[in-house]
Amino acid sequence: MPLEPEFVGRTFDDFLFRPRKGVVRSRRSVRLTSRLTRAISLELPIVSANMDSVTSGDMARTLALEGGLGFIHRAMPIAEEAEEVRRVKRSHGHVVQEPISLPREATLREAREVIRLHRITGILIEERRGDGILAGLLSNRDMPWGEPALDRRVDEFMTPFERLHVAPPDVGVDEAERLLFEHRIEKLPLVDSQRRIRGLITKSDLLMARQRPESTTDGKGRLRVGAAIGARGDFLERATELVQAGADVLLIDIAHGHSEVMGQALEALRRRHPSVPLVAGNVGTGEGASFLRDLGADAIKVGIGPGRGCRTRLETAAGVPQLQAIREAWHAVGEDVPIIADGGLREDKDLFLALLCGASTVMLGSMLAGTDEAPGTVIEDPATRRKHKIYRGMTSPQAVFQALYDDSSAEESPFETPAEGQEMEVPYKGSVVDVLHRIRGHLRSAVSYGGTESLAALREEIVPRPVPYLVPLSAAARRESFER
Ligand code: XMP
Repeated sequence: MPLEPEFVGRTFDDFLFRPRKGVVRSRRSVRLTSRLTRAISLELPIVSANMDSVTSGDMARTLALEGGLGFIHRAMPIAEEAEEVRRVKRSHGHVVQEPISLPREATLREAREVIRLHRITGILIEERRGDGILAGLLSNRDMPWGEPALDRRVDEFMTPFERLHVAPPDVGVDEAERLLFEHRIEKLPLVDSQRRIRGLITKSDLLMARQRPESTTDGKGRLRVGAAIGARGDFLERATELVQAGADVLLIDIAHGHSEVMGQALEALRRRHPSVPLVAGNVGTGEGASFLRDLGADAIKVGIGPGRGCRTRLETAAGVPQLQAIREAWHAVGEDVPIIADGGLREDKDLFLALLCGASTVMLGSMLAGTDEAPGTVIEDPATRRKHKIYRGMTSPQAVFQALYDDSSAEESPFETPAEGQEMEVPYKGSVVDVLHRIRGHLRSAVSYGGTESLAALREEIVPRPVPYLVPLSAAARRESFER
């Protein structure tokens, strides 16, 4: 089916959704499950942009807890990006696979530093540095207050092995829960018959799994996280490090994804990591989407120039209005390969329109920038007392400069284009949890106006033929709708 003429030159503010008879009793029961890749589903169809003012470990962790997923940006050395991935993977899970440990002779000063750095509440103590033999457990509560004690050894304060409750490495979740409760403890080290450390189960992780079934987790209960790579230079090495760190999905992100560079990169990555889900982008046309589908992408990221920090259309005239681009991509690949609508989403209603016109998930940059979880500091204007944070396009001169500065080994700009992005201030918004709560509520409400009980059911009905459900707006109708 060719692109419907109604979509030519159109984007979000060009349409409203025509309400249908509602069937939902409580909006809270509306499910928003949608596919991120061929194999991974999200309970909240939102991913955060791989930009250095939007997503590092904190944002990715919170997004996954809330049912979405974050893509760690790549404007940093490989080891640093891998460490951000590790931080997310380590933060939750039924079992911490490689718990952090210190040797007996370590000082409390070292212990305090490790606890602070990794944001944990206790450390396993081993007999000798690196031997992995459990000697005891030092929890926050075992640490004396005050400076004078800081040079004393951790084994003076730890609970020694003889008094610890431990379990074998293959202990089940139910049995672990029982042991934690029976002994009123928070941490259960897993050891083999030689007392070698094989993992750690914590009460908070088990509770999280129970209380937050909507979180995006892998088979081991760990939060899922994505990570961005480029398509040239050291991208294969970066990919390997990120996969080793536990990245669940890689995003090959270049400005012009419908290109030979992308073709070669995708093929090389498929050979090197046949089972890792690969998202590829960006493209803005049906031809671009088919190209990525034929190369075996597991999801296709769509958007050339709609982003808020983006100047591509202004500088090069290249681009396709975002709703047209999403629709073209959908006509090209249908539901075979999920589409991620990336960029230009400003209002909560835009997400709904993107999802109904073909996208399975949306990527947000500026809507999530300005939150506590986004990198960067809050700046207060002394005159107005207004608070803001900085949001910037990844090819803004500032971002490119910083990436080069941080990675002195880079021989050329890590990005594909010269400055086609800009920097701007965005209002400080508090925690991203509140922003996501608001968006989730509005999406559920929108689905209820659509007359189904879930986003999936609504998409199934509307995505193949959205035109009858879209109301095109005149300038007057747009004023009536959006000007307040
Ligand atoms: P929003 O509108 O959510 O857009 O802020 C986020 C998306 O913008 C893209 N992006 C850029 N595009 N030059 C561009 O042409 C840039 O410097 C730039 N930086 C980010 C990117 O796709 C992101 O997800």
